[in-house]
Amino acid sequence: MGERIIIIGAGQAGLQIAESLRAEQFEGEILLLGEEGVAPYQRPPLSKAWLAGETATDKLTLRGPDFFAAKGIDLRLGAHVAQVDLGARQVTLAEGETLEWTGLAFATGASARLPKLKGADLPGVCVLRGLKDAREISARLGMAKRVVVVGGGFIGLEVAAAARKKGVEAVVLEAQDRLMARAVTPRISEYFADMHRAKGVELHFGAQVAGLEGSDAVSAVTLADGGVFKADLVVFGIGASANDATAAAAGVACDRGIIVDACARTSVRNVVAAGDCTVFRREDGVMLRLESVQNAVEQGKAAAAALMGRSKPFVATPWFWSDQHDVKLQMAGLSGGMDRQIARSQGEHAFSLFNYCGETLVSVESVNRPGDHLLARRLLDAGLSPAPDQIADATVELKSLLR
Ligand code: APR
Repeated sequence: MGERIIIIGAGQAGLQIAESLRAEQFEGEILLLGEEGVAPYQRPPLSKAWLAGETATDKLTLRGPDFFAAKGIDLRLGAHVAQVDLGARQVTLAEGETLEWTGLAFATGASARLPKLKGADLPGVCVLRGLKDAREISARLGMAKRVVVVGGGFIGLEVAAAARKKGVEAVVLEAQDRLMARAVTPRISEYFADMHRAKGVELHFGAQVAGLEGSDAVSAVTLADGGVFKADLVVFGIGASANDATAAAAGVACDRGIIVDACARTSVRNVVAAGDCTVFRREDGVMLRLESVQNAVEQGKAAAAALMGRSKPFVATPWFWSDQHDVKLQMAGLSGGMDRQIARSQGEHAFSLFNYCGETLVSVESVNRPGDHLLARRLLDAGLSPAPDQIADATVELKSLLR
């Protein structure tokens, strides 16, 4: 056998690895194995424009069939990898077929969490991760009067916003005392809480879901404090877990995700990983799990280079976004450890918050300020920390601070 790289997982990261391998002049075979029956597609719109009915399904496709033929990428859909043998350099598919590799990439993504509560298996209890999930939620939204969303993170709030756009009542049950607590600072949580309420979303904090009720389908969510919320549809958006079981079983080092370095290398030679399935061990030892398109793409490029024996570390500032109602939220950098927040505002509904840890700019959160977001990424990438008084001064152009 000549050289053959097998990529497990045909999402954004898997596709990127395949594409970058060709860009890196890899001439061997590339096998891209996808479990879902559809060619690689964009997931972020599923909970946003797609669910609101503003984007067609074919617009989600990342590359057309011609692309795979032209690049010599053997895309196999409906292929579930059951086992990986690192010693024999083989993967075994669920149907029993065994395939050999000279290089291996895990791009297995993450799975939405669903707690093992009573009634969690009732029809109408959903999570949102893939197109199949989104289709089911969309169909049920079309008939629902009231949706209860568990989790006030990105997915939950995007679903609530899409529901309101469709005229469906929406309730969000969040365990913590503010929205999107994992990812944003309290001022952003507050802005979004006000905005969701103004759009008719009912928010409840400190909510401990105890169970789900219903006979043929879900009819209510019950809380530990005795609260009962009627629902024709319940969507859990309580986070995702990395799909690392196959890698871990094979002997690749994992810790709530496949552990990779900045070059997307795992603990095993010639085995890389990229995207939501990974956890990145930073040089200072901190373990970071980034779930984003940017991470899938940049780690994908690094992984392809690593398989070619080259080092192409992914070092860019992390960035994320969310669309809720008509508000665009964009985040650059990570806010952990920030102790000072400087606002740069253009009215109540268009502003950015520049977050400092001491003198160092660590993150920027932008609401309806895409220009600020792009410049913030450039500032953070360059390691620049402009003086706070300059940030607060709307007459100072951000661009001028890049020099
Ligand atoms: N009951 C209520 N709320 C809960 C519970 C629970 N049992 N468990 C967790 N939560 C809340 C968390 O406090 C948090 O606010 O659910 C929210 C989950 O938010 P995220 O961690 O952002 O996860 P999710 O919204 O599911 O998004 C998953 O998809 O949008 C992408 O990349 C994004 O990583 C994100 C992923």
